[in-house]
Amino acid sequence: MGTNFDFDTPVNCAGTDSQKWQKYAGRDVLPMWVADMDFKSPPAIIQALHERVEHGVFGYARPVQSTIDAFVAAMATRYGWKIDPAWLVWLPGLVVGLNVTAQALAGSGEEVLTLGPVYPPFMTAPRNSGRVPVTVPWALAAAQWQIDWEALERAVTPKTKLFFLCNPHNPLARVWRQAELEQLAEFCLRHHLVLCSDEIHCDLILEPTLPHVPAALLSDEIASRTVTLMAPSKTYNVPGLGTSIAIIPDPMRRARFIRATAGIVAEVTTLGYAACEAAYRDSEAWRQALLGYLRGNRDYLLETIARELPGVKVEAPVEATYLLWLDVSGLGHPNPTAHFEHHGVGLSDGAMFGAAKGSHVRLNFGCPRVTLVEAIRRMKAAVQAVKQ
Ligand SMILES: Cc1ncc(COP(=O)(O)O)c(C=O)c1O
Repeated sequence: MGTNFDFDTPVNCAGTDSQKWQKYAGRDVLPMWVADMDFKSPPAIIQALHERVEHGVFGYARPVQSTIDAFVAAMATRYGWKIDPAWLVWLPGLVVGLNVTAQALAGSGEEVLTLGPVYPPFMTAPRNSGRVPVTVPWALAAAQWQIDWEALERAVTPKTKLFFLCNPHNPLARVWRQAELEQLAEFCLRHHLVLCSDEIHCDLILEPTLPHVPAALLSDEIASRTVTLMAPSKTYNVPGLGTSIAIIPDPMRRARFIRATAGIVAEVTTLGYAACEAAYRDSEAWRQALLGYLRGNRDYLLETIARELPGVKVEAPVEATYLLWLDVSGLGHPNPTAHFEHHGVGLSDGAMFGAAKGSHVRLNFGCPRVTLVEAIRRMKAAVQAVKQ
């Protein structure tokens, strides 16, 4: 497999099944909202899918040993996490995992704690089954997003059963440090909470000095109270193939989780398994090249936004993901998302993540550099139009 991968040439997604591109079909708006990338998947995945399609039989699927081995080996090599294959529950999506966790490991009317702003299903998943999401706001201090530990303690009630952690964090692009995670594990143990750690962005850490720490590695005690959710979908750009994994070391909690999926959660597909194996086993060179490209995109954005977009601010380091959280309150516009859309850039509205209306937008920079350059040109015009 070569190491010269092409992230620069735009792939035409107009007219395809892409949700991201369908939203603005027929309009000159660059879609930079939903979190998938405009890049082709790694060549090894495309090759594996070709081979699976050539086989021609697509019956009900279960993962073969080589697929399980590929995932387990990647977690051991990258993070030193030795996963027993018995802990794995395969799911057709990670949001499915958040919903099932809420339903299986909290009771009706019980509370699920999280830190906001956060990826919207952290708040909607508990509600879907009559559980109650409780969001504690992040604190911004010393140009970094911080946990307000006192507020977190105050938010705990006898009904609090679960903590939903986004590790690394979407939309804040924050990588959790070992010491913070240890404090969080201690907090969860002291309050008898189950820790559900969504680690879908863990293979997308842009800062080479920051390690990903799987929540389940903090101690054996916390591991037995942990549901970790992982997927190849963000990193290798295969979310449309619906393959995710819950890792649940404790047999009793795993049994409860599996029981809650019975009859309502579909199986992972043959193509999803094929892509997953090729992702974790054969696509490391591509991932490293992707990280280099995303770092370049991030640096371009940070520099250009600071220089050319007055009123638009990046509040803290962008340590992971291809998602940029922008403070646009300085524009003083009541609806910045609509305003940028009107100027040809389709962003996610921060209010969806729990931010104050009009204060933030999220920009997806998983795209060729030329797309970013054009987006900045349009955003500059939008900012100037506000200032006039
Ligand atoms: C933190 C997080 N979890 C889950 C998902 C989506 O997972 P899935 O498409 O597998 O349901 C996303 C997608 O943006 C995400 O950012």
